[in-house]
Amino acid sequence: MNEEKLNKLRQKVQDLALEYQKKDDFTGWFEKVYSDALEHPQEIPWAKMQPHTCLENWLKTKNISNKKALVIGCGLGDDSEFLAKKGANVTAFDIAPSSIEWCKKRFNDSSVNYLVADLLKLDDSWKNSFDLIFESRTIQALPTSIRREVIEAIATLLKPKGTLLVVTRLRDTEDTPDGPPWPVSDGELSQFHEYGYEEITRIPYSDPNNLSIKQALIEYQRKRL
Ligand SMILES: C[S@@+](CC[C@H](N)C(=O)[O-])C[C@H]1O[C@@H](n2cnc3c(N)ncnc32)[C@H](O)[C@@H]1O
Repeated sequence: MNEEKLNKLRQKVQDLALEYQKKDDFTGWFEKVYSDALEHPQEIPWAKMQPHTCLENWLKTKNISNKKALVIGCGLGDDSEFLAKKGANVTAFDIAPSSIEWCKKRFNDSSVNYLVADLLKLDDSWKNSFDLIFESRTIQALPTSIRREVIEAIATLLKPKGTLLVVTRLRDTEDTPDGPPWPVSDGELSQFHEYGYEEITRIPYSDPNNLSIKQALIEYQRKRL
């Protein structure tokens, strides 16, 4: 897609998100984006239709066979499928029913357990139960006013010694950013320490379509509950 079309699409989706936000609905717009797209991925600004490069690179040196993995806000399923292909037992969820329906159609013989679920309302039985969690661009898609709840919801899902991978835009100050997306700050990320997480590595990532945006894959290990 050319840059001009992509910018128009991003603007349309931003307007939609802000319209919902005015009604204190932070997540309703995702379903509208997926259902309006009518299975045309080019209508979804974040759809890559391939696993994230950061995840592919990270997995080059890792063995995740039989790990219990979770993909948060799985979108159209490419990252979930990649983890499953590498041998993990994957559960993947998204708040938008149309995205999950789409994943099931795209990957109809998949081993991934695709579910509609809200990160902020997960069953308590999921807590402390995953070996590997992959979250790509979901924290940044939710406003900073609910960031503490979002990070807490993610942080409490991992087993001790488990690995969390966060792919996100980053901002350099603690000022409130414009969005969506709302890049994540170091102050916000430090909340993971409250749940026993240690940052293992931070690998910068540059989107070939937008080199000026600061992004990274951050790998955490949960040292304790
Ligand atoms: C920017 S998209 C990223 C999708 C995918 N992770 C990727 O990187 O391609 C954010 C995704 O998070 C999902 N999402 C947003 N809020 C959520 C919530 N509270 N619970 C579950 N999924 C959520 C959206 O529906 C959307 O699919």
